[in-house]
Amino acid sequence: MRRRDPAGNLLASSAAGLFVLAGVQIVLGYYLSTKVHGGPDEVRRSIEALRSQSSFNALLVSLHYWGSFVLLLHASFHLLAMLWCGWYQKPHQWRWWGTITLFLAALGFQITGNFLPLDQHDVRTVVVEAGITSRMPGLGATVRQFMLGGAEVGPQTLALWTKLHSVGLPILLVVGTLGAFVSHFRLKDTKVFVPAAFMSLFFAFALCLLVEPAGGTAATASDWSSFDAHPSWYVAPMHVLLSTFDKLSIGWVGAMVLPGLLVGFLFALPFIGRKFTLQMIRVMTVSALAVLGGLTLWVRPQIAPISGSQDIKAPDPGPTTSPTAFKLDPKLAEEGQRLFNSQPCANCHGTDGTKGAAGPDLTKGDVLLRDPEVLRDYILNPEKVKKGSTMPAFEGKLSNDQINLLVQFILSHRR
Ligand code: HEC
Repeated sequence: MRRRDPAGNLLASSAAGLFVLAGVQIVLGYYLSTKVHGGPDEVRRSIEALRSQSSFNALLVSLHYWGSFVLLLHASFHLLAMLWCGWYQKPHQWRWWGTITLFLAALGFQITGNFLPLDQHDVRTVVVEAGITSRMPGLGATVRQFMLGGAEVGPQTLALWTKLHSVGLPILLVVGTLGAFVSHFRLKDTKVFVPAAFMSLFFAFALCLLVEPAGGTAATASDWSSFDAHPSWYVAPMHVLLSTFDKLSIGWVGAMVLPGLLVGFLFALPFIGRKFTLQMIRVMTVSALAVLGGLTLWVRPQIAPISGSQDIKAPDPGPTTSPTAFKLDPKLAEEGQRLFNSQPCANCHGTDGTKGAAGPDLTKGDVLLRDPEVLRDYILNPEKVKKGSTMPAFEGKLSNDQINLLVQFILSHRR
């Protein structure tokens, strides 16, 4: 028998807490999934009915929402604690891999589950995520198609994500949980403090009683192609990396490649870890977290609220500049059009800006950006005009004249 140690007991109790919460989430999710079905309209209606017709069901919906929130938070801290204690090394590798799987399932549940109530913000988030995916050179279109279950965000995306949420991810969660659980059971080196194993469930329950889950008005047709959404807290690190790498016009590296490498690194840690001492692994982890923290302070992303309404308010157009200051000139607009199609603009917004794969249709456009001054500022640095914007900045990449031509073109094509 191995020596019992206090940190190990704490980790084992924390793991037991994860298993309890994961189990409750699966049972709750199964119950709720029997009540929600159909296409977008029906799904929205059945979720609204669940929330409004019985306070018991409303409580379960809220518990499922907060349970998922706590599960992901707990899994993140638990992974970090395991890493800190060296629980990626033999003989812990199986519970390490199991916990990473559990963590990934929890993240997947958040992302797919966020789509389900079909609020304005939920739908727009998926459009943004799809847009980011399609920017990846070469593979983008294929990954996007795969992720959306079709060319655009639509009912087929809902069908695919619902299936992922109710079948694929539960399987992943059970596999991860079982892997970690069996490993804990076999190693028998630790003692679980039973009340601690119910802490997370208790916390989720308290949140569900005290705090309203995030929601909002139902999505309308235009939301299914709108790129306006703040990132949710759990994708905020990816958003921070996206904005940072976007300064070099390779945002997809930050949003997709780096997180992919990180997951690969975590899975490979039982092998890679042998080449480093635990102390070195700790230093690497702390440095990586410090860099991410620093970037976050720098980017300061505006995050979608986790409680209450997530609706994007229509921006305040502010005082309009006098119409005489700016005149549309068909000739300049035409020159702007040529420029637009020869610049990266057309890659994301389509030829003439009319059909965006990774950016919105510019002929519709935001009311805020009907003002030439604001539009100019926006193209130079979107973040300054619209906090959380995922469009790359063109400051220093285009001359003043070029910007003016682009503004001429865009405004002359506004419907
Ligand atoms: C890497 C992809 C990408 C490139 C390249 C790109 N855009 Fe965008 N653009 C976006 C995204 C995504 C949004 C929506 C972000 C937001 O909500 O602020 C956007 C938004 C816009 C908007 C505001 C849309 C509205 O609501 O009216 C304008 C105008 C615009 N882009 C113009 C341009 C111009 C001009 C260029 C070339 C100089 C360009 N874009 C290049 C992705 C891109």
